[in-house]
Amino acid sequence: MNKQFKRTLITSALPYANGPVHIGHLAGVYLPADIYARYLRLKGEEVLFIGGSDEHGVPIALKAKAENVSPQEIVDTFHYLIKKSFEDFGITFDIYSRTTSAIHYKTASDFFKQLYDKGKFIEKVTEQYYDEEARQFLADRYITGECPHCGNEHAYGDQCESCGTSLSPTELIHPKSAISGSIPVMKETKHWYLPLDQYESWLRQWILEEHSEWKPNVYGQCKSWLDMGLQPRAVSRDLDWGVPVPLDNAKGKVLYVWFDAPIGYISNTIEYSPNDWEKWWKKEDTRMIHFIGKDNIVFHCIVFPVMLKAEGSFILPENVPANEFLNLEGDKISTSRNWAVWLHEYMEDFPGKQDVLRYVLTANAPETKDNDFTWKDFQARNNNELVAIFGNFVNRAIVLTHKYFEGKIPPCGELIDYDRETLKEISDTKMRFDNYLETFRFREALKEAMNLARIGNKYLADTEPWKLIKSDVPRTSTLLYLSMQMVANLAIAFEPFLPFSSAKIKRLLNQPHLNWSQLGEIDLLPTGHAINAPELLFEKIEDEAIECQIRKLFDTKKLNELNETK
Ligand code: 2FM
Ligand code: ZN
Repeated sequence: MNKQFKRTLITSALPYANGPVHIGHLAGVYLPADIYARYLRLKGEEVLFIGGSDEHGVPIALKAKAENVSPQEIVDTFHYLIKKSFEDFGITFDIYSRTTSAIHYKTASDFFKQLYDKGKFIEKVTEQYYDEEARQFLADRYITGECPHCGNEHAYGDQCESCGTSLSPTELIHPKSAISGSIPVMKETKHWYLPLDQYESWLRQWILEEHSEWKPNVYGQCKSWLDMGLQPRAVSRDLDWGVPVPLDNAKGKVLYVWFDAPIGYISNTIEYSPNDWEKWWKKEDTRMIHFIGKDNIVFHCIVFPVMLKAEGSFILPENVPANEFLNLEGDKISTSRNWAVWLHEYMEDFPGKQDVLRYVLTANAPETKDNDFTWKDFQARNNNELVAIFGNFVNRAIVLTHKYFEGKIPPCGELIDYDRETLKEISDTKMRFDNYLETFRFREALKEAMNLARIGNKYLADTEPWKLIKSDVPRTSTLLYLSMQMVANLAIAFEPFLPFSSAKIKRLLNQPHLNWSQLGEIDLLPTGHAINAPELLFEKIEDEAIECQIRKLFDTKKLNELNETK
């Protein structure tokens, strides 16, 4: 089925506002989404890129209790910190809002009410743990006890973090309330369930038949969920933090965080564009793409589509290019164990080097499997690729143009075979480039962009204009004419990936107007056009800076080991 789309709605997972964002978030979700948004905008397409903070859920409520502050205080702190990090790294959301906004409360309530009125939910009464002292039902995370598998005495009601097993609260031995410490009792409670099982055959058709082009990791996970058989899922919880269930007999009940969070994409669109938000969500010629990490696949490929389908007037995602996870120096990134490179700390330690991290994380993105970030690799990619190839070529071409032609683009004489071969390599690269970007293979696309820089670097190294200038000025002029056109091409090719460097090249070239359709052309800078004085694009990162980062992680590890043996 080849649909014609007029516009693209890009959503990126709403991060929980209970901690800062780290390199795993950036590599897995926000960089790919931003690269894609920038790419489409450069092509002149109509794009809306939605972000925001996910501010509900039990972990936030628990953190607030532990710190003796309100949940709102917690999410206020982190919402602004996260928003600032995204701005610092040039993530070009059209809106970055939050799920505690008034618009979101209304949108999520109305959505629930719509489904309720249409009879799309099942009501069920079940028995759940209740804390008689605190007078409240206990969410799975609020119950601790002994793990029946490994004996860990501090397992949670949903998972044992020691052996990794998923649990249900009734499996815990000697359960205890995390709120009052008392022994919980079983008590009846009513909730609303989305009967996912009723949508199974529709989902099989929609995903497995109509979207076999989805990435294998995404398609495979959906298939295994469907093969296991779907169960009705509760969309409400007994909790005092969240969007209240909008029914008369639902005091003390809120919408489950995974019900309200994806509706956040809709609320944020409404907030951004109150008068024509519907064109983004209800018109068949809008293409919706969800950028997420692999732990969010089931919610974006199964649960949210079922919610949209049940409502009936919304479009469904065309693609969900989920990534795998990024590890750090061989270990899983963990917020609670402080095993992460936090974006706000990176900004302090490496000011002005956002593009270096953007480059390394994209070059090493966990697109098809989990990948590892190491500081040594970060240094090597900066020094051997950004500095030695990309930066070196751009700088040389600009310096030589200043030295021999007074900073003006020189005339282009007759081309020889070697020039034509080089130009052919450039146009071959361009052909592959677009295809990689269209199909969310950003690592490969970035490789092609770097390949363009490599071609330029080799062109100058092979032709040695600094020697030729003594004997053949017209040929030197042609070489530098072509080299400067290649520099202009690099500004275009790198723009989705390294926007800060691309903007700097455009400033150096004194040419702000370069667009995607010009990629591959060799008349972007006319003869006689004056360029600005050279400035380095990237600088070498010394061993000392890297050792300092490695030491910081080593200290974290030591501290964690100490805490674990206590
Ligand atoms: O996994 C997470 O961090 C969730 N907060 C993602 C939510 S995505 C969407 F549904 F809002
Ligand atoms: Zn265990």
